[in-house]
Amino acid sequence: MRITFRFLLLIFCVGTCAHAESAPPHLRVQGTATQLIVDGRPLLIRGGEINNSSATNPAYLEPSWERFKALNLNTLIVPVYWDLIEPQEGQFDFSTVDRLLAQARDNRMHLVLLWFGSWKNSMSCYAPAWIKVDPKRFPRAGDPSGARLEILSPFSIENLRADAKAFGTLLRHLRDADGTQQTVVMVQVENEIGMIPAARDHCPEADRAFAGPVPGELMDYLTAHAEHLTTELKATWSAAGGKRAGTWAEVFGADPAGEEIFMAWYFARYTDAVAAAGKKEYPLPLYVNAALIRPGHQPGQYPSGGPLPHLMDVWHAGAPAIDLLAPDIYFQNFTEWARRYKRPGNPLFIPEAVRGPNASVNGLYAFGAHDAIGFSPFAIESIGDPAGKYLAASFDLIAQLEPLILAHQGNGSMAGLLSEGPEQRQPQLVRLGNYVLSATFERGAPPNLADGVIVPAANSGTVPAYPSGGLVIELGPGEFIVAGTALVITFASVEPGLNAGILSAEEGRFVNGEWQNILSLGGDQTHQGRHVRLEPGRFSIQRVKLYRY
Ligand code: DGJ
Repeated sequence: MRITFRFLLLIFCVGTCAHAESAPPHLRVQGTATQLIVDGRPLLIRGGEINNSSATNPAYLEPSWERFKALNLNTLIVPVYWDLIEPQEGQFDFSTVDRLLAQARDNRMHLVLLWFGSWKNSMSCYAPAWIKVDPKRFPRAGDPSGARLEILSPFSIENLRADAKAFGTLLRHLRDADGTQQTVVMVQVENEIGMIPAARDHCPEADRAFAGPVPGELMDYLTAHAEHLTTELKATWSAAGGKRAGTWAEVFGADPAGEEIFMAWYFARYTDAVAAAGKKEYPLPLYVNAALIRPGHQPGQYPSGGPLPHLMDVWHAGAPAIDLLAPDIYFQNFTEWARRYKRPGNPLFIPEAVRGPNASVNGLYAFGAHDAIGFSPFAIESIGDPAGKYLAASFDLIAQLEPLILAHQGNGSMAGLLSEGPEQRQPQLVRLGNYVLSATFERGAPPNLADGVIVPAANSGTVPAYPSGGLVIELGPGEFIVAGTALVITFASVEPGLNAGILSAEEGRFVNGEWQNILSLGGDQTHQGRHVRLEPGRFSIQRVKLYRY
């Protein structure tokens, strides 16, 4: 009896301690960075998002896990469908979610779940049938002629209640089914929210709201943060006269730019209420993702009012339960979009990106330049080669470097190397400590080496381009880790009259956090001491020590 009691006491203590130690996944600030903490430890998401329909039947996904592991993913980004989990109002079926959790655990993989609720790429195709067939109770958005769109109106309390109830029930289920194991590390609320084909909803409730005053909460926020608002928002506001009160048209203008701010606010408020209903049950980090703007397109031609960079202030004001706004980067100017989403109060997480060969270097750049929480190409189960080969190699570098990257986040001792676009020919200059690194990107075919001098291959243009980019970590004064591919880096000292030279350059690997030498590099491999070069076509790490003379 005594033994049993002691045994129970022990179990209780262990259980209590374990519970006390494992707060749910959450975000934690480190310097200028924000880290995702899972089971007490920071995690860098090496992600892949699956195709939209691939999680409707877990058996379909089963054969792909080996491939996900071979790509060196540690997290799979997967939809949860409102119509599947709540087929009848109030009756929930989490069997697909549970099977997904089991598969992820069997494969030692984390999950980010995507709540395909009221909106998926503006539309409402994942609303359950009992919602779709009842537009009277669950109103649709209207186009400018007043005709119904297949989009749930964010101005309907009934729509909001139904979505928030389903999302809250999902998060409660995750708390019960996964609170201890922490397989699920974040949840995206809705998917690529935004109004199309006009800049704003024109259903009767929306028209009424548009004719009414701008809510005091938004005006107060904008006034309190006036110094730090985005230039675009400031411009729209001041072009309409910079008023502190009035109707939406009076304060922000009656044109598409003003209408978009109106939509952003109401989308944010709706999403915030859905998010808060989930957080109340299980406070996981929550985010929203944005369809970015095609050059030259107007609000309504692109999804109007989504969590876009020029609307960040409105979203931050309207959706405090959302932890971050995330870009889906399908455009070539990756550096520009990544930069626009890394702002004070908004850490960078890229849940969707093109899965081409450049995904490999775009990810390295995001981690190195912007302390990204994670990077994840889209349609990962469809990735072919060479893109898959490059991604696996670059995620392998991230896995090796994870402890170092995490330790250096937020203190200015890391940089990302990536060209601003295909036309860039100038070297990228990066200052770290007392040195300036000058990186050039090798494009096209791997060049020939003639006496260590790189000469462009004669047939460049006829062979596929190689990805080029990487990251640098300053380990200490004059000591760097350089990781990536197709880079040539020269070094200069910031002190006038002093040159920088390479004391040593080694290629190696980190094994369980320990550096292991593969080769000590010199001669042709460093152009006789002039530069460090990461060969095109393969991903590698070098540890470089500099000196000044
Ligand atoms: C962005 C969306 O968020 C994804 O769900 C998917 O539809 C891709 N676009 C493109 O297929």
